[in-house]
Amino acid sequence: MNKYIIKNPSQLITCSGIHGKRGKEMMDLNILENSSLVIEGEYIKDVGKTENIFEKYNYNNEYTVIDASGKVVMPGFIDSHTHFVFGGYREKEFNMRVQGKDYMEIMRSGGGIISTVKETREESYDELLQKARKRLDHMLSLGITTVEGKSGYGLDFQTEIKQLEIMKELNDTHPIDIISTYLGAHSIPDEYKDNPDEYINYIIEEVLPYIKKYKLAEFCDVFCEKNVFSVNQSRKLLEKAKQMGFNLKIHADEMVSLGGSELAVELGATSADHLLNISEEGIKKITKSDTVATLLPGTAFSLREKYANAREIINNNAIVAIASDFNPGSCFTEYVPFIILLSTLYMGMKIEEAITAYTINAAAALNRENKTGSLDIGKLADLIIIDYPSYEFIQYHMCYNPVEVVFKRGRMVYKK
Ligand code: NIG
Ligand code: FE
Repeated sequence: MNKYIIKNPSQLITCSGIHGKRGKEMMDLNILENSSLVIEGEYIKDVGKTENIFEKYNYNNEYTVIDASGKVVMPGFIDSHTHFVFGGYREKEFNMRVQGKDYMEIMRSGGGIISTVKETREESYDELLQKARKRLDHMLSLGITTVEGKSGYGLDFQTEIKQLEIMKELNDTHPIDIISTYLGAHSIPDEYKDNPDEYINYIIEEVLPYIKKYKLAEFCDVFCEKNVFSVNQSRKLLEKAKQMGFNLKIHADEMVSLGGSELAVELGATSADHLLNISEEGIKKITKSDTVATLLPGTAFSLREKYANAREIINNNAIVAIASDFNPGSCFTEYVPFIILLSTLYMGMKIEEAITAYTINAAAALNRENKTGSLDIGKLADLIIIDYPSYEFIQYHMCYNPVEVVFKRGRMVYKK
């Protein structure tokens, strides 16, 4: 059994809690000093004053002691919104956008998501798996210990299942825990171009039951957007998914204010994501609900759109998470320090709120807030050591990866 004591970091940031944090609570990182943390097996066994911890546990030197003095120890990051299994790349499209072309315009002319669909259909299981594994390795080095991944680059049965099976295999073989989301309603496939309602019916009748039967995804998601799936189509799909036992997510109010956030609350979705154009009504509703508002500033940056109004959403008392939205089109980055920097410099969040949003609140966006996302006794030992004495360096040393060591389920899985 793994037995470690992480000794005396300058800040032991616990983010303590078993619920997503709202409004002002997001400022409270619950930082301990002169303290140490004990790992046994996969779990956090104890947290307390260093003196007491050593008296209680290490009288016969059974534990490997890691001296963390001068460093920060904190929960591993949780990236609760990514699309990390995909074929091909879209570097030319990025160039077009640099030169002023619009994301949705590119999409309507056959580029965008559909071009990744084409390449994901063409690439073999093994090719996709190897690429996805490399991406996870990089995420781990950034301190990410849990990641959500979406299908949605197949749209047809075979390729959607291929994406989900790849995530399942990676969950079994890679240290990072992967939580899978079925996003068949990511785009209208050419086969159903003139009949999106039929496509929704097909998903409901043929794909969801299979995914449920083989436990290939925990969440069902939809791109609820003008010229993609309407609020009514999204409602129909998600209501059925809910009846079948899926948890729900929505790509909501990204380009226009369509009402996806209101729908998320109405259906009790676990999260509503993007929210660049959430309405006042949507903000009111989400703040009174347990639906996590997941903000993705990397996408707003990359698309040169206005950022989500994090300040107003937090001030209204919502549970806010941040995530990368890592994908080959609208946001090709998984770089945690960059997402945090965008959140604080451009989206109006405080660094403390950003850390809460990437840990315990991100866990809540995946229904994992009682298992991970904070350094509390009994939770998974998913934690990182940062090579600076205070968490403020995560934003201050811009676009530098300060992660020195990563523990996942009690094992040291990465060391710089
Ligand atoms: O979350 N908005 C829709 N889906 C992705 C983008 C996917 C892509 O461009 O390939 C998103 O931004
Ligand atoms: Fe997305």
